Order: sequence, then C-alpha cells, then structure tokens
Amino acid sequence: MTALLQRLRAALAGDYAIERELASGGMGVVFLGRDIALARPVAVKIIRPDLATADLGKRWELEQIALRLWPSASTIQGFVTAMFELVEKHRLSFDQVKKVRVFMNQTGVDMHGMFPRYKGKFEALLSTHYCAAAILHDRALTLAQFEPARYNDPKLAGFAAGQVETKVDSTLAGVQSIVEADLADGRTVSVRCDHSKGSPENPLSRAEIVEKFRAYGKGALPGTRTDESPPLPKHPDWWPQDLERKLATVHKTEDCIVFVSGHATNVTTIGCLFGSNDLILHDVLAHNSIIQGAVLSGAKRLPFPHNDWAALDKILQENRSKFQRVLIAIEGMYSMDGDIPELDKFIELKYKHKAFLFVDEAHSLGVLGTRGFGIKEHFGVSADDIDFAMGTLSKTLSACGGYISGKHTLVENLKYTAPGFVYSVGMSPPVAAAALAALEILEAEPDRPKRLRELGALFYHNAVESGLDTGLCQGYAIIPIITGSSVLSVKLSNRLFDNGINVQPIIYPAVEERGARLRFFLSSTHTEKQIKDTIGILIEELNHLKRNPVFKLI
Ligand SMILES: Cc1ncc(COP(=O)(O)O)c(C=O)c1O
Repeated sequence: MTALLQRLRAALAGDYAIERELASGGMGVVFLGRDIALARPVAVKIIRPDLATADLGKRWELEQIALRLWPSASTIQGFVTAMFELVEKHRLSFDQVKKVRVFMNQTGVDMHGMFPRYKGKFEALLSTHYCAAAILHDRALTLAQFEPARYNDPKLAGFAAGQVETKVDSTLAGVQSIVEADLADGRTVSVRCDHSKGSPENPLSRAEIVEKFRAYGKGALPGTRTDESPPLPKHPDWWPQDLERKLATVHKTEDCIVFVSGHATNVTTIGCLFGSNDLILHDVLAHNSIIQGAVLSGAKRLPFPHNDWAALDKILQENRSKFQRVLIAIEGMYSMDGDIPELDKFIELKYKHKAFLFVDEAHSLGVLGTRGFGIKEHFGVSADDIDFAMGTLSKTLSACGGYISGKHTLVENLKYTAPGFVYSVGMSPPVAAAALAALEILEAEPDRPKRLRELGALFYHNAVESGLDTGLCQGYAIIPIITGSSVLSVKLSNRLFDNGINVQPIIYPAVEERGARLRFFLSSTHTEKQIKDTIGILIEELNHLKRNPVFKLI
C-alpha cells in the first residue's frame, strides 16, 4: 500500500475499527471493519483515495468519517480523547495554555507528527498539532473545523505550529496517548488515554450516539434542523442492491440479480429456467458452468462449432420445431482463447429462430467497448437483443460472484425460483462494495479499458511476430501461448514464475493435450516494458525447455 493509502486507512478507522483490507489495486479499496458502537461488521469503501476529502461529509463513503466521534485520523483518536479529558477536567481555556506535549508511539508520531503546518483539509485531519489547537480553542472537534475558514484562522494555525509538540513514547501502543499541558500559572497538567472514546473499552453512551447522529445530520445536510430526526447513514446491507442497480445501468437492462458465485450463476440460472422440452445450443468452447447448467436443466444439449454461427443456423433450421424453447449460449470473450463471437450474427439467429440469447460476459466486461461495458457496446447493439447478460464479479470487478442482467420479469423469476439464489447465502456487503467500487472506477475512467486493449494488442503482435502460437486469440486481454504439451506448459509456467512472471498453465483435461497452453491475463496497469520483457523471457525459457533432455525423458 502506498503511504497515502496507509494514512487514509488510518483516517477512515475511527469508530469503525479497520480489521482487514479486502480489495485494492487500481479499482478502489475496500476495508472490512467493525462498527464499534453497534458491534457489527461493516465495510468501508474508498473509490479514489485522492478524492477522499474533496466532498467530506457529502459523499456517502465519507460519512464514515463524518459519523466518527472525532473526524480525525484513527491513530490520533486516543490523543483526541485525552485532549478532551484534559480540557474538561482542568477547565482549560485557550489563553491559559502555553505549551501542549503529545506522547504517542513511533507510528503515531511518524504519521501525525509531521503536520505542525498543514496544507488543506486532509493534512488538517491528520495533524495532531491542529487537532490540539482546535479542541483547546473550540472545545469541540467537528467536520466544520476541517474547513479552510476554520483551520486557516491565524490563532489556531499559530498555536498548532508553535505551541504543540509531538513526542515518541515507546511504552505506548496503538492509540494510547499522554497529553501534557504547561499552563501560564506554572503548573503542568496531564491525562493518559488507553482506549479512545467510542472503542469497545470506552464506549459511547446511547445519548452520545444519538447526539452524534444529530450533530452529523445538522452539519452535513443543508437545511436540516436539529430538532428533526437525522436520516440514517447509508447501511452496508444495501450495497448488494446498489450493485444490482449499477450493473443494470451499465448493461442498460431493466434489472439485475447478483449471486455469490459466477459459476453458480450459470448453473442455477440455466438449470432452473429450462427443461426437458427445451433445446440448449452452446458454443463448443463454452465455460463449464454453462454446460453444467444445461445438463442440470434436463434440456437437450447440443454444442455447435466454435463461433460458427452458420453451423448454428443449420442446427436450428433442422431442430427448432422439435422444441418448445431454445437457448443459444455464447461468451463475450472466450476464456481460454481470447477471441470473441460475431455478436450481430448470433442476434440475427436469435430473432430468426425465436430463441433466447445468453451471453456470458465474464471476460468481456471491462475489456470490450469504448467504456469497457462489454461486447454489446463493442458491436453497438441494443440491450434488448440479449435476453441474459451474464457476468462475473471475479475478473474486472475484483470481487467474487456473478449476475444476470435482463428484463425485470426474468430477474424477479430468478429471485423466487433459482435455487442458487433462494437456498444460498446473500452477497456480503464488503464483496458487493468492492465490485461496486470497481464498476464506478470503470465508469469514471474509460482510459483503463482502452489502455488494456492497447496492451493486449502489443502483447499479441509481439508474440505473433516472435513466432509464438497464439491460437485463435484476437489480442484483447487474454493471450494464450499454446505449447501443445501439459508438462511443458507447467514447467514453463514454473520457470516464468522464477523470473517474476505469474502466468498459469492450462492443461489437459481443461483443454485438449495438443492445445495445452499458458494463459496470460493482462491488466491496464501492466507496462509496455513488462510485456516486451515477458515475451523475451518466454521465448528464452521455452527454447531452453525444448532443448532440455530432462524434459524429453518425461
Ligand atoms: C466464461 C466464464 N463464465 C463463468 C465463470 C465462473 O465465474 P467464477 O469463477 O467467478 O465463479 C468463469 C470463470 O472463470 C468464466 O470464465
């Protein structure tokens, strides 16, 4: 994690003790934590760290900060607690105090001792010096004090820079802190805090919680009167529904349902909606989950040659009339080969033969289309042309799960009948939040899918020019390098790993033996140098293994 993220992580803890980072990387950061006051797990989502303070108190993820007792960094919550106690216990006034010394552990001082002069809201939130001055002067620490009008007050800024000192005390751990104040009358008073206010050991009273919500409602919502009940903060349990709405928007469909597994999405959806009077036609290279769904359904199942819409047309001409309903199942990008179907041709067939079209966008969402919204966007077709827009949350969306986007009636039907939904656990809020954060990033940053496609093309062209076998690949985000041997693929993968390159082998029975391969997945954050170096090392290692007598013996 970058230093900024570390600080942000600290800044977001507060009443929400951060336990674990769930998802991060280019697409956003999600932390799993615990709401200390309510003693229940929550997830804290940060979409763009650099925007963290831009709309403090207005954007919902920043409500986490706004709702905290003291809207400052988590590591200094102990010091803030001690500072309040000191002020209250000794009825200190600002003018009475000549010097404040704050003792914290090394981490506390490293993170929060470097802003005696702070620039902007974020630094003020992290500044022990500013918080001490603000508490002493205002006897409060609220969001309003982290606005320029307050933190730029020369009286506060001068006190913070000149009269507050931070010191390391290695006997202190976590949020523990000691605050000492030298007073004008020569006395020195001090308070030690072991557990910050709001922690399980030092909990808020019910009245304090109500007060906190009221204060927040007043500060963050223009026009809200304090005597009105403040609205409840965004509840994490709503995130799966938010995710469904966002996916429906991205796919331009009426509705969407999320499942806890991508594989189960296909199995349960196809398995429950089709039956013995129906026909399921799937690409011969379709993912196992589609095939398992078809088997489970009891429908007649026929694979058609890969991407061959003409062959499919022929099968339909011969068989359509024998079945009640027909499902055509294809993928937006084939996971083993990195190629895509001619979607418009399959749509024509769907209408021609009155069939349903199922498109698994596991590997095309985030890759194809100007904004990365998938194969529909790539071909510029209407959302209504696809009956089942399926996708997974485990690739571009950096989480786990799957979804079906489509008509409201379809989604409602699945919500009441699909065993993988009805009899399985609902999606956990942190996972939904991670996927939602990734989708929001994708929406906000169309350069990512563009860059990914450029890198894919670079890898593909370099590989082809170097004589490597890329099979059916069309050079998007998945690039297979076919070695034709499972043993060779595994050995090559290991050797590349030793060279710092993480690529998995795909071996028999996942593919035919002569189709054994390495499958490279690219991300928009790879660099051109990494790609060129990888091709160079790949060729070197492949040649080495082919010459290696040990390999020949196996
Ligand atoms: C095309 C396709 N569909 C469905 C799945 C299943 O998704 P998950 O791994 O998220 O369960 C995968 C997994 O790789 C896939 O490639």
